[in-house]
Amino acid sequence: MPPTLLLVAFLAVLGGAIAAPPRAPAGWSLHRRADPDALLTLKFSLVQSNLDKLDAFLLDVADPQSPHYGQHWSPSRVKETFRPSAESVDTVQAWLTHDAGIHADKIKLSAGGDILHLDVTIAEAESLLETEYYLYSDNEDGSVRVGCHEGYTLPEHISKHVELVWPTVHFGGPRALSRRGESISKSSSRVGRDSGASKTPIENIVALAEVDCDTSVTLDCLRALYNFDFTPVSGDVNTVGVVEFGKNVYRPWNLDMFFETYSPDQVGVIPTLISVEGGDPTAAGVVDEASLDIELMMGLLGPGQNLSLYQVAQTNTSLDPTDRLLAALDESYCSVAPAESEGITDCGNKPRTNVISISYHLNPDLNDPAISPVVQRQCAEFGKLALTGITFVASSGDYGVSYAGQCLVDGALAFGNPSGSFVAQLPASCSYITAVGGTSVAAGASTDQVEESTTDFWSGGGFSNNFARPAWQDAAVQNYLDNFAPNYDASVFNRSGRAYPDVAANGYPIVVSEKGRFVHTGGTSASAPIFASLIAAVNDARLAAGKGPVGFINPALYSTSFAGAFKDVTVGNNPGCQTDGFPAAPGWDPVSGLGTPNFVKLRDAFLALP
Ligand SMILES: *[C@@H]1O[C@H](CO)[C@@H](O)[C@H](O)[C@H]1NC(C)=O
Ligand SMILES: *[C@@H]1O[C@H](CO)[C@@H](O)[C@H](O)[C@H]1NC(C)=O
Ligand SMILES: *[C@@H]1O[C@H](CO)[C@@H](O)[C@H](O)[C@H]1NC(C)=O
Repeated sequence: MPPTLLLVAFLAVLGGAIAAPPRAPAGWSLHRRADPDALLTLKFSLVQSNLDKLDAFLLDVADPQSPHYGQHWSPSRVKETFRPSAESVDTVQAWLTHDAGIHADKIKLSAGGDILHLDVTIAEAESLLETEYYLYSDNEDGSVRVGCHEGYTLPEHISKHVELVWPTVHFGGPRALSRRGESISKSSSRVGRDSGASKTPIENIVALAEVDCDTSVTLDCLRALYNFDFTPVSGDVNTVGVVEFGKNVYRPWNLDMFFETYSPDQVGVIPTLISVEGGDPTAAGVVDEASLDIELMMGLLGPGQNLSLYQVAQTNTSLDPTDRLLAALDESYCSVAPAESEGITDCGNKPRTNVISISYHLNPDLNDPAISPVVQRQCAEFGKLALTGITFVASSGDYGVSYAGQCLVDGALAFGNPSGSFVAQLPASCSYITAVGGTSVAAGASTDQVEESTTDFWSGGGFSNNFARPAWQDAAVQNYLDNFAPNYDASVFNRSGRAYPDVAANGYPIVVSEKGRFVHTGGTSASAPIFASLIAAVNDARLAAGKGPVGFINPALYSTSFAGAFKDVTVGNNPGCQTDGFPAAPGWDPVSGLGTPNFVKLRDAFLALP
């Protein structure tokens, strides 16, 4: 027998022998088969119209060369443009009634026109979707979900009209993450904070006024580093927000302690609350993330600019917190969210600020049937919101090329930074977000010198497995891949994926007041709000000049007219998954992006645009 045939035969036998029991998604245990008579609300999320043109629509308003630069869309134009077609509604409805024999009265269309939902028995759902339904229990809180992790099948003429069916392979929110090997407490969240840097108490804050920015990063250090000389003039019309999820809350007395030292005019001032799903910043919780974000943004922007706080409630029901935020900003997203166990009530009723800063890692960017449809839908939603003129800024992560210490081994996420494929993180790896990596002032260096990628934690960066590389970063990323990228095996990272971060800003050792004391802390959790503050200040100048907010900035940042707006960070790397990660390099790199900003040049480049 020729060797190739032997191999085939061997594999066939092996394949049969090791047919493993179906594997539940990470974090869930397969409980048992669902009862055939149990009732289930099935939701068919219809394909949005024109989604393939989203990138072109965005470039039309965000490419500095475009004659329509800055002409953002109204929310109603966005809604009408992407509303599923009547053909999709009719085709799926006809299939359900004629072929599947479901009574027309049982099929309802959501108010937004994008979801068909119907109550069926498990047995009916199984026959409709050619699958088997199981119950799964949450390893974290024991709650039980129904789903079909092995996938489902729709006839071809139907599947092209259906984006997702709920509940099927996706079980709601991202799994709780662990930080430094510790599990985040159950009640806290299913999202991770990006403040992964170590923390040290500061004994004598007064003396810190005299120390250098390599050992203590104050507001003045940040102003010096980024040429950030700013007094708001459009504070009455300009808006900027920060998102805090779950139990991450702030305490006014910590802000006051910070302001007494660094910005006395702001003592007694707190952010303007935008409560999402009843999120309450005065509730019990942990203060590190919110203290860091709010003190930096309020402090940098000063007393003339209000900061809005999107406080997004999160319980243990597995509902994805990203969905809560997106639904609160866009009514048409509300019906998309898998809210069968707990309805989303804030649907498009919350104000949209011009800039929104997010210092959290949400879903892992995995090419996985249980994750991809969800994260693609979420990322598209960020893009649709960007089309209306919102700039989303997010931290790139504090764990190098791993996803909070997890790498992909044999198709599954594994803890402990094992040898495996790199894992990007949402929302940073979504192309419609501006992702910010972390830097530090090198030991003994001054604020005039170029920073280095931080070594106090590893700046998150890499390549998406769900989103293709956008045209606006093509040249910059290709230059890196051709000239500087390590020669990793093709399976280690996805050379054709969207690459991040886009930019960088200081991440350590930031001086913050929390729990009644000053500490050195940081992470890209700090980098994102710092950069977001600069963009809010750019908007302030544009509004004063009679122009609109900048909205989606990535195409501009990578364009030649912004070449002088960044200091190129070329020292450092971002280890993870038992590798050295990527090295920083001249030009864009997946550790520090385009580099750290020079505010005056950034502002002037945006002011030169229509
Ligand atoms: C968490 O979920 C479990 C099971 O669904 C429920 O019994 C419990 O009350 C929930 N806890 C909180 C704090 O919401
Ligand atoms: C900030 O918010 C407060 C309270 O809502 C308001 O009174 C004040 O006018 C706002 N400041 C600016 C600059 O818009
Ligand atoms: C790499 O990215 C592309 C573009 O998004 C995607 O189509 C492809 O599936 C990704 N490859 C892997 C191995 O995930």
